[in-house]
Amino acid sequence: LANGLGVTPPMGWNSWNHFSCNINEKVIKETADALVSTGLSKLGYNYVNIDDCWAELARDKNGNLVPKKSTFPSGIKALADYVHSKGLKLGIYSDAGYLTCSKTMPGSLGHEEQDAKTFAEWGIDYLKYDNCNTDGSRPTIRYPVMTRALMKSGRPIFHSLCEWGDMHPALWGSPLGNSWRTTIDINDSWLSMIANADMNEIYAEHARPGGWNDPDMLEVGNGGMTKDEYIVHFSIWAISKAPLLLGCDIRNMTKETMEIVSNEEVIAINQDSLGVQAKKARMEGDIQIWAGPLSGYRVALLLLNRGPTRLSITAFWDDIEIPPNSMVEARDLWEHKTLEQKFVGNLTATVDSHACKLYVLKPVA
Ligand code: GLA
Repeated sequence: LANGLGVTPPMGWNSWNHFSCNINEKVIKETADALVSTGLSKLGYNYVNIDDCWAELARDKNGNLVPKKSTFPSGIKALADYVHSKGLKLGIYSDAGYLTCSKTMPGSLGHEEQDAKTFAEWGIDYLKYDNCNTDGSRPTIRYPVMTRALMKSGRPIFHSLCEWGDMHPALWGSPLGNSWRTTIDINDSWLSMIANADMNEIYAEHARPGGWNDPDMLEVGNGGMTKDEYIVHFSIWAISKAPLLLGCDIRNMTKETMEIVSNEEVIAINQDSLGVQAKKARMEGDIQIWAGPLSGYRVALLLLNRGPTRLSITAFWDDIEIPPNSMVEARDLWEHKTLEQKFVGNLTATVDSHACKLYVLKPVA
């Protein structure tokens, strides 16, 4: 969507994966505080996104959305002011139907202009727009109405289409949103994470600056996967140019979680100016090789072991679009070291079960 936003994939936090409906203004404010105090905001995590369940079930007598009195007593405008005072941005959630997915608050169908205006007045910077409880019409009918309403609202608002991939939003999302979900909801397990990674990869050609494929929010730090599995999760999302929206409790992150999500070299791949999503270059049983171009003739290379035992994995240059005889230098982004050996034609590494190696390959003279 040509609104000047999402030039690189959005980064930040969203309340749903950890808190679901148990949110309130204290949690949102403390999360904003924690993004700053942990240093994550400096690394680019600047959206603080409220998901479902923030509003009263009934609109007011003028048809306006009303923040839930028991959980957001100070209102959303005050929250936006607070979040902005920390140098961060505030995101909110609505739905292209009569009720949101939780059914605890109204959707925006039929109220698009009014709601977009409300969001702009409150100082909202990001809208996640879901697809539950609709009138049965096609999303390609309902989503453009909100896009136009946002564009008329007078405020640049990142538009995240949440259609779960059923109608292949990657094929029609680009003029309507800055990102579009390609998958069903993620859960905090290896199988769900890998399934979403696979599904999202199919649409790689459709991602570009201004509009990104969205395999759903991060589960890193929620406890359901091993450290290696979370590293795979974060690595694939990064090379896939997916939104990096943290889904854990930022106020109580372990050292391990922080170490993963604050890896600046991995974040730099995600935010690379070329904006090209990596793809599967080769698959052999449990072995997968993912690769994608980066600025400066560099290549991001992921060696992934999806199986139960340790494996040796080789990436060949002709699979990953490097000229056959070129010599490259390899930077291991999780070991934080540049390998001494230079590589010509291929690179081999041993990779543990449910683990990966992530490199940036750079041509050397
Ligand atoms: C849908 C979305 C989720 C979340 C919930 C909220 O399932 O896909 O990401 O927003 O609704 O109810």
